[in-house]
Amino acid sequence: MTDKFSNKVVVVTGGTSGIGLATAKAFAAEGASVFITGRRQDALDAAIRQIHGKVTGVRGDMANLADIDRLYDTVQQAHAQIDVVFANAGGGDLAPLGAISEEQYERTFATNVKGVLFTVQKALPLLRDGGSVILTSSTTSIKGTGAFSVYSATKAAVRNFARSWILDLKDRRIRVNAVSPGLTETAGLNELFGGGEQADATKEYLVGQIPAGRIGQPEEIAKAVLFLASDEASYVNGVELFVDGGQAQI
Ligand SMILES: NC(=O)c1ccc[n+]([C@@H]2O[C@H](COP(=O)([O-])OP(=O)(O)OC[C@H]3O[C@@H](n4cnc5c(N)ncnc54)[C@H](OP(=O)(O)O)[C@@H]3O)[C@@H](O)[C@H]2O)c1
Repeated sequence: MTDKFSNKVVVVTGGTSGIGLATAKAFAAEGASVFITGRRQDALDAAIRQIHGKVTGVRGDMANLADIDRLYDTVQQAHAQIDVVFANAGGGDLAPLGAISEEQYERTFATNVKGVLFTVQKALPLLRDGGSVILTSSTTSIKGTGAFSVYSATKAAVRNFARSWILDLKDRRIRVNAVSPGLTETAGLNELFGGGEQADATKEYLVGQIPAGRIGQPEEIAKAVLFLASDEASYVNGVELFVDGGQAQI
């Protein structure tokens, strides 16, 4: 454990699994006080047991503004300010144009776009000047992907949030960056593919397209997030950092 983030307060939404959990662990290992969210209490409890350090779980749906208020009320009870917000909660499912339902559209945009927007906006009164915001986008923000247009559109929206918010937050010197993972081994990804031989074959095909020749691990995305949150990235602002083994660069 080092103390690179000691005395720092970090909020990680979607911190109970995959990329969010790996990032919460990494921040806690560097000495931060970490607040994680997720909708499922059992997953929240399990995540808290796995994170060594200062961690608080707040159950909530980031698409629900009252739950976001509760998150920041909880932070405020213990801390005067927040240093880092990692707006990461998100997900999607597959449906080609022609089979997209209104419910799928609304659910995906509610978490991935509305949730990210209000997670950051409602953090502003507590977020310190000079603080850092990291948004989870995806390689799909700039790529076409069959049967994945709704999710991809949400991630393109998130990518633009980073560009536009650095102007809105200019006077407060708050940096906003997006991290764009490629295929990353998480429960969310495996759920997307479903089980069975066909799913394994699709995954194998996609992994074969990645220049790095392998799938990414959540810990590798976490390292990029910690970099963007750190003083080492003091002049990095508004970028989309791809952590994808080169997948979106070809
Ligand atoms: N894995 C990949 O290949 C990949 C690639 C590019 C981008 N991403 C993005 O990376 C982020 C994390 O994905 P992951 O692969 O780590 O997925 P994951 O393993 O399914 O984890 C998702 C996390 O978000 C939480 N969550 C989902 N919806 C939420 C909501 N409405 N409110 C609060 N928490 C919510 C989940 O907990 P609950 O279900 O209990 O709420 C869980 O903690 C997502 O934004 C995803 O789009 C993933």
